[in-house]
Amino acid sequence: MTVRSLFPTLIYRAPLGGRDPRHFTQRLLDEAEALRLHDEAGQAWSDTHYVGGYTSYATHARLHRTSSTFAELQRRLMPHARAFAARLRYDLRRRTIDMTDCWVNFMPAQVAHGMHLHPLSFLSGTYYARTPRGSAGLKFEDPRLSKLMAAPPRRADAPPALRPFVTMPVRAGTVILFESWLRHEVPATRAAGERVSISFNFAWSDKR
Ligand code: NI
Repeated sequence: MTVRSLFPTLIYRAPLGGRDPRHFTQRLLDEAEALRLHDEAGQAWSDTHYVGGYTSYATHARLHRTSSTFAELQRRLMPHARAFAARLRYDLRRRTIDMTDCWVNFMPAQVAHGMHLHPLSFLSGTYYARTPRGSAGLKFEDPRLSKLMAAPPRRADAPPALRPFVTMPVRAGTVILFESWLRHEVPATRAAGERVSISFNFAWSDKR
């Protein structure tokens, strides 16, 4: 008997790297804090759409274009995006990939971010800047879930690759990348302190 596994869903995880990542992450945190403090429109948007937390998604979503610190984050993320795209065997020989969006997220305990995907991009991901003990992981949904209409439930001891939901633990200093169509969420937890992350999207275009 032969059973093959086809059409895998790849998820990439790695330390950010670069010079003095701890100090660099602190600079990101300081800027993110300052942004939150001054971004009244973003606070108002978050009050409705990100209840209990703050995200710059609606107001400052291209931080790599306006801040040298976030531009440095983009530089540090590019090798990860290229490595992941290569692993996915995307043909980028005459194509280029660019970060199109980059925004910050503050999630105190009990704040959740429901299932969603990232339109208008092909790779997405998050850099974790602060993850207090007990912080929520990143929960992914099997992209075929909607097609499993008559399937019985999976056994509790199923390996992660065969489960309908898999939560990746997150740690400060770590990058996670996934394909933008993959639905994911951040569940609420009871962790003390604020989980701070920076999310981003990549798109591709032909080289000119
Ligand atoms: Ni997301």
